[in-house]
Amino acid sequence: MKVAVFSSKNYDIKYLNEANEAKGNMHELSFFEPRLTYDTLSMAYGYKVISAFVNDRIDRNVLEKLKKNGTEMIAMRSAGFNNVDIKAAKEFGISITRVPAYSPNAVAEHTVALILALNRKVHKAYNRVREGNFSLDGLMGFDLAGKTVGIIGTGKIGQNVARILKGFDTKIIAYDKYKNPEFEKYDAEYTDLDTLFEKSDIISLHCPLLPETYHIINKRAIGIMKEGVMIINTSRGELIDTLDVVEGLKNRKIGYLGLDVYEEEEDLFFKDMSDIVITDDVFSRLITFPNVIVTGHQAFFTENAIKNISEVTINSITEFENSETLTNEIII
Ligand code: NAI
Repeated sequence: MKVAVFSSKNYDIKYLNEANEAKGNMHELSFFEPRLTYDTLSMAYGYKVISAFVNDRIDRNVLEKLKKNGTEMIAMRSAGFNNVDIKAAKEFGISITRVPAYSPNAVAEHTVALILALNRKVHKAYNRVREGNFSLDGLMGFDLAGKTVGIIGTGKIGQNVARILKGFDTKIIAYDKYKNPEFEKYDAEYTDLDTLFEKSDIISLHCPLLPETYHIINKRAIGIMKEGVMIINTSRGELIDTLDVVEGLKNRKIGYLGLDVYEEEEDLFFKDMSDIVITDDVFSRLITFPNVIVTGHQAFFTENAIKNISEVTINSITEFENSETLTNEIII
């Protein structure tokens, strides 16, 4: 099967080629570095199968054009699929698959890395020591033990975050639209959203981006949070109203912010912008705060995860070629 792989980086090329080789090089993979958008979709002309990633914009217009170009299947190399118009894909008869659980540990561990780095100010300490400054002023943290962590979204990742944080002796409370009986084994208590906002010292987001979760962290929510709350988002940027969060940081209501995702990340992340003037003023303001750490959507990025993503993606394409049931098809 001829496959056009969009948003492909060196690591995608290496691991997808390896996964394809393991299947006897069944597929002919063409790697394209650009994101799949309306402007780049002409590269997909004649490819029955496309593979795409989190910041590709696969909306109705793109899908309509792809269908005309001969595309019948899109294998997403991600768990989240908020960037794909699934309804339109169904209408145009394009099957969409994803990788539902390539490594929930990877994202959960990165979440905890952000919590610890922010609390113990590892980012500041690293720079200070390199400059021969061993002063401890401004580096005081707090014990995680005894703190209340509020987890929003108790699926695979939220559950792993709870598992790890239980080891730190934190109290875990959670909100989810659909309760997960497995989650309660971490001595976690489900609450309503407002109670979670009111009681948590640390709030961590692990729900998908949906119309009802868009800007779930906004001015109103921040208003009822504890003074000095820590907010962590390793899920999707649009869960947070960034302007409201900047305001919360300025008036010190928010004490710490750890982001692996950002509302407008598609024009920034996954590329080297070090020689380019960043014109996104909100992002530029965000990274000036001493109590903010931003990573560029790397929570998933472990060797285990990339291997799994590549293998599952190649499997989905093989199932499609063999007209088998698509194990990881997104059905609505
Ligand atoms: P999952 O599907 O296992 O869990 C999501 C949970 O959110 C479910 O328990 C679901 O009931 C809950 N949920 C649904 N609607 C909700 C609502 N309105 N309010 C509160 N909770 C709601 O998904 P998983 O694997 O745990 O991933 C969570 C999110 O993490 C993904 O949607 C994706 O956006 C993000 N992600 C980020 C990555 C990164 O590299 N930063 C990598 C992989 C996923």
